[in-house]
Amino acid sequence: MCSSDDIKTVVFPVAGLGSRFLPATKIVAKELLPILDKPLIDYAVCEAKKAGIERFIFINSPNKQSITNYFKKNKNLESELKDKKSEHLELISKNLISENNLIEVIQDKPLGLGHAIWCARKYISGPFAVMLPDDLIISGVPCIKQLIKAYKNFKSNVVAIQEVDENNINKYGVIDYYKNESNTYHIKDMIEKPDKKNAPSNLAIIGRYILNPSIIKELSNHELGAGGEIQLTDAIKKLIINENVIGYKFEGNRFDCGNVIGALNAQLSIAMNDDKYKSQIKEIIKNLSKE
Ligand code: G1P
Repeated sequence: MCSSDDIKTVVFPVAGLGSRFLPATKIVAKELLPILDKPLIDYAVCEAKKAGIERFIFINSPNKQSITNYFKKNKNLESELKDKKSEHLELISKNLISENNLIEVIQDKPLGLGHAIWCARKYISGPFAVMLPDDLIISGVPCIKQLIKAYKNFKSNVVAIQEVDENNINKYGVIDYYKNESNTYHIKDMIEKPDKKNAPSNLAIIGRYILNPSIIKELSNHELGAGGEIQLTDAIKKLIINENVIGYKFEGNRFDCGNVIGALNAQLSIAMNDDKYKSQIKEIIKNLSKE
């Protein structure tokens, strides 16, 4: 039996246009662009599975349903590979999500991250995880598992945080805190995409959250925030009046795959640590740096 604070559900907001990857995203969803041999979204789903998450909610756009298809059985490809006795058969079956546990909700208007999470409301009855697939995190203990542990220890909503350069602070939600013990920061305020001069700290919110279902009520006001969008940060900030919210400085390497250079950095760094690719990639880098 599940205890009431077991986190078994994750919400993935994936409806975005992926403009930074145009023209590729004219035809392929940003979340399906490969990092080595797996699409970006697969890294986030694997991270969630390793943390014991069983139910996967994709907040999607009507044009990007190939994302959810990726996690469904492909009978034709399966039988073709079976006929050929292909060693690759295993590769297409290990990432599946069962029909009962894969939920797709269409976000019909691009009204922001807060709106995307609100779109999942029908399926939320207890605490749940939110993962932004653009943030690819490589760590010993899966990042979302670290957050689940913090959620249980502190009985608080949890956001992942990381120190970022002050010149990049305006790209993030930023926390202000009143107390900190090792990796845990007790939050008193947060601001979405502040100017450098208004940022309360250099601790940015990274795309991993564990939230109580009360967030849905805060989001239902549909208040517009930074960039004229409904912001998740603004709704979490309102939770602070009645609930605890902590920032957890997770252990691991985070790559911002929402832009070309960040994704390239992820490609190279992950390849450098991959048994199959590392010697070849090191050779390529060595040769390139001679030029
Ligand atoms: C979103 C959140 C922001 C967070 C960031 C992390 O912003 O709104 O608070 O810091 O993800 O990647 P976006 O990158 O969607 O603009």
